[in-house]
Amino acid sequence: MTRQPRFSRRHLLGLAAAAGVAGGVAACTGPPRPGPAGPAAGAPFADPPERRARGDLLTGTLTAGTGVDLAGVAGAGLGYDGTSPGPTLRLRPGDEIALRLHNGLDTPTNLHTHGLRVPPDPGGDDPFRTVGPGGTADYRIRVPRDHPAGTFWYHPHHHGTVADQVFAGLVGAIVVEGGPDLGTAEDHVLVVTDTTLGDDGRVAAAGPMDRVAGREGELVLVNGLLRPVLAGAPQRSQRWRLVNATCSRVFDVSLDGQDLVHVATDGVFLPRPVARGRVRLAPGNRADVVVRPPDVPGDVDLLAAGVDRGGMGGMGGTGMGGTGGTTGTGPVVLATLRVTGAAAPTPPPPAVLSAPVVPPGPPDRTRVLTLTAPMGGGGMGFGIDGRGFDPARDDLVVAPGTVEEWVVENPGTMLHPLHLHTWPMTVLDAAGSDGAVRDVVTVPAGGRVVLRVAFTGATGRTVLHCHVLDHEDAGMMATVRVGGAGAP
Ligand code: C2O
Ligand code: CU
Ligand code: CU
Repeated sequence: MTRQPRFSRRHLLGLAAAAGVAGGVAACTGPPRPGPAGPAAGAPFADPPERRARGDLLTGTLTAGTGVDLAGVAGAGLGYDGTSPGPTLRLRPGDEIALRLHNGLDTPTNLHTHGLRVPPDPGGDDPFRTVGPGGTADYRIRVPRDHPAGTFWYHPHHHGTVADQVFAGLVGAIVVEGGPDLGTAEDHVLVVTDTTLGDDGRVAAAGPMDRVAGREGELVLVNGLLRPVLAGAPQRSQRWRLVNATCSRVFDVSLDGQDLVHVATDGVFLPRPVARGRVRLAPGNRADVVVRPPDVPGDVDLLAAGVDRGGMGGMGGTGMGGTGGTTGTGPVVLATLRVTGAAAPTPPPPAVLSAPVVPPGPPDRTRVLTLTAPMGGGGMGFGIDGRGFDPARDDLVVAPGTVEEWVVENPGTMLHPLHLHTWPMTVLDAAGSDGAVRDVVTVPAGGRVVLRVAFTGATGRTVLHCHVLDHEDAGMMATVRVGGAGAP
């Protein structure tokens, strides 16, 4: 059955204009290269390069630059230090990141360590900072000694350029080492991005409707590769650190024909391993899973089934510069696990991984937050509580050390994954929640979530926002100030 469009194309373009979304900002610059080859699938899987802390310091420079290979196409996108994803930053609780960010792009950027429970200080994990084209900036980010061991990531956070830069490949993983021994023989980072390449072999610019819907790329990549092939031996288990670093896609990950053993969400271990047919990841979410290759050699596909984010009626579709819209399409093959050789059994993960999550509380304060969006979202533009982002305005002022309960309402017709920096969130209501601690919580279209946040461990001023990065760039972001002048 064909659904009737609730909005005409012209109406959507009007909404895009009203929402203040800019059209067609090219993500890359530089002279066009002659005759680029198309994307190539099936390359051998490779983890991103790594940077390790020495002593308790992870130092060096990190250059955001152009001309980086994507999907086997030379020079197609953006990356850090010449690769997309950039180097995985590996450190332990108590270590300090001391990186000099160099901006080799022609648009402003900065650096955000997504999910790390670190203060948003100036010179630290500060989303308000601007590093102009050609500029450099020093970052000092100390990871607390009691920080969870797990999978986090980094990406640019300069308001207005985030979606373009991430879509072009500017992302990287952060691994905080430690935690229970999972019995795995291998440990891999799988950073999932999506992008669309134009005929010129460069990342395509998003159109106005892609910016309203939240752009989804035609190519879904793992570590910058299209459908890479991962080697495995029968029964020799691997830990996969899955990062949804796409701009907008919500997807269910599954391993064709067998369960994934889910051990961590958003960098925090679950109380016990859970065998699941599929694990859902919204943009920004991570899942750590243990994969036990089957007893007999053969290929097994890792799949991502797109979840319909709603809201575009019959305008759905995936093409960049096409109709715009969100997908419930798929599944697409993310990677293939190629199992060869003799069985090499490893032990299963331990039955208990961490203490059960107790939501913080009782709350010192309750707030209602309303996600504002075009198309039934209570406004013509993207915002929170009816206001677009203003970095100079204090939106939520929180007393340090207190617990808040947030009722987040989404009156609109598209889902929005809500992300809060620095302080993790615990979802209270059962719908769609597995009781885990998260740093990105999906708020369904026409629905609400109730969550608790303990504002402990750090003070400072930072942001909460929709992690559909086009929505964030269009203003669905608010400031939160914990402590400081005028705090309660
Ligand atoms: Cu993943 Cu505010 O960011
Ligand atoms: Cu973040
Ligand atoms: Cu959104």
